[in-house]
Amino acid sequence: MQERLENILLDVSKSPDIDGGQLDKATRTILSAAMEGLQITRVGVWLFGNNTTAMHSELIFDQHDSDTSQQLSISETDYSDYFAALRKERTIIANDAATHPATHELKIYMQQFGIFGMLDVPLRHKGEMIGVMCCESRKSERKWTEDEVAFAGILADIYGRAMSASERDQFEQMLLRQNEQLEAIVEQRTQSLREALDNFKQAQERLIETEKMAALGKLVAGVAHEVNTPLGISVTATTHCEHRLKKLKAAFEDGSISRKQLATFIDDTFDAYTLLSSNLERAATLIQNFKKTAVDQSSFELVNCPLADYLNALVISLKPMVKKKKVSIAIESEADIKVKTYQGALAQIITNLVSNCHDHAFTEPDDAHQILITIQPHEDGAVVRFKDNGKGMDNETRKSIFEPFYTTARDTGGSGLGLSIVYNLVTRKLKGQIDVQSTPGEGSEFILLIPNLS
Ligand SMILES: Nc1ncnc2c1ncn2[C@@H]1O[C@H](COP(=O)(O)OP(=O)(O)O)[C@@H](O)[C@H]1O
Ligand SMILES: [Mg+2]
Repeated sequence: MQERLENILLDVSKSPDIDGGQLDKATRTILSAAMEGLQITRVGVWLFGNNTTAMHSELIFDQHDSDTSQQLSISETDYSDYFAALRKERTIIANDAATHPATHELKIYMQQFGIFGMLDVPLRHKGEMIGVMCCESRKSERKWTEDEVAFAGILADIYGRAMSASERDQFEQMLLRQNEQLEAIVEQRTQSLREALDNFKQAQERLIETEKMAALGKLVAGVAHEVNTPLGISVTATTHCEHRLKKLKAAFEDGSISRKQLATFIDDTFDAYTLLSSNLERAATLIQNFKKTAVDQSSFELVNCPLADYLNALVISLKPMVKKKKVSIAIESEADIKVKTYQGALAQIITNLVSNCHDHAFTEPDDAHQILITIQPHEDGAVVRFKDNGKGMDNETRKSIFEPFYTTARDTGGSGLGLSIVYNLVTRKLKGQIDVQSTPGEGSEFILLIPNLS
């Protein structure tokens, strides 16, 4: 091949336009090279449509015609010989295109653009013929040389290369877009999951708060009920005294009072006052104990807690809660054990455990229900054992009781949150440990390690 043509091919082949991914740019470079190499003034790329029965001009370069923007089309119906020749997928070398068997039908087209010779090279992509590069000569005596035919063929191959690059580029762009879309979707999903989780946590916190308040509510109701009895007795005693006093005053004023009457009145009044003071004292003790524990339920302060005293006071407040089931609660303590801890949390824990004994352990009305709380010293603080002699639990239940929402009493209003709150209070708030042992028919024992906190 002529060196001149080889050099042009080399330049085209090395041009960044070819593999750059922009087919239009690459086509321009190839068509310019064809014009220069073949020394022609009109060249174009024509591509098949959806099938090989029609072709349209994709891009035409024409030095004599500046407006080549209009797309031209030809179809097999009008140019059957030409399409038959194209199907052979060989280069059509027509020096005199008006008489050449493949191109003779294109006479009008040739006249319109002043064309004599045609060199149509097949364009291929992925092994398929997709169109032709039409090199058109306006010189009547023009003969296409072998070199020129080879040159045009190589340019056509380069066009195929450019097309692959463009396809790859489009594919990459698509992947990139899909990746971005995917990232956006993942981000969106993550966001909605995060929101759902937040909502769930909030709902759970609200439930736990409600449950805590319910435990406190039970305590309050029990204490209120218990205080009501001595207060009622006190009110009756006072009314009784007032009544007697009025009678005494009347008798005193009309001088009808006898010594015996006075003596009876004094005795009666003493009795009434004894009743009054013992009942008021009882009410005061209840309120004091309640205050000690109930106030702590909300105010969590780190104190050096005398466990036996504190739990004694708490148990007195809790007794009304379990009174109907005749539960006796005893506390055994080895020594005067003090633990630096949040005693309010401890009160909540014991309240929940007592409430559970009432709700779940003590189901037989005739049994002697007992709760025994044992306090033992431990190198880190103290161990509190909470034992009932109720119905106990099977292994399945025992393994699940600390899980939130686990309850065997849903139909009687159980929420399954009590022991999960206990678990969290012991392990998180008090930094301690909790374990449970149980035998069906014999009872359960909760073992709590309450460490000294600093
Ligand atoms: N002292 C106990 N004796 C027997 N079973 C118990 C005892 N304490 C708790 N349970 C079991 O543990 C479950 C979970 O208790 P809890 O978390 O307080 O929820 P709830 O009291 O709302 O059922 C109860 O439903 C019950 O089956
Ligand atoms: Mg409970």
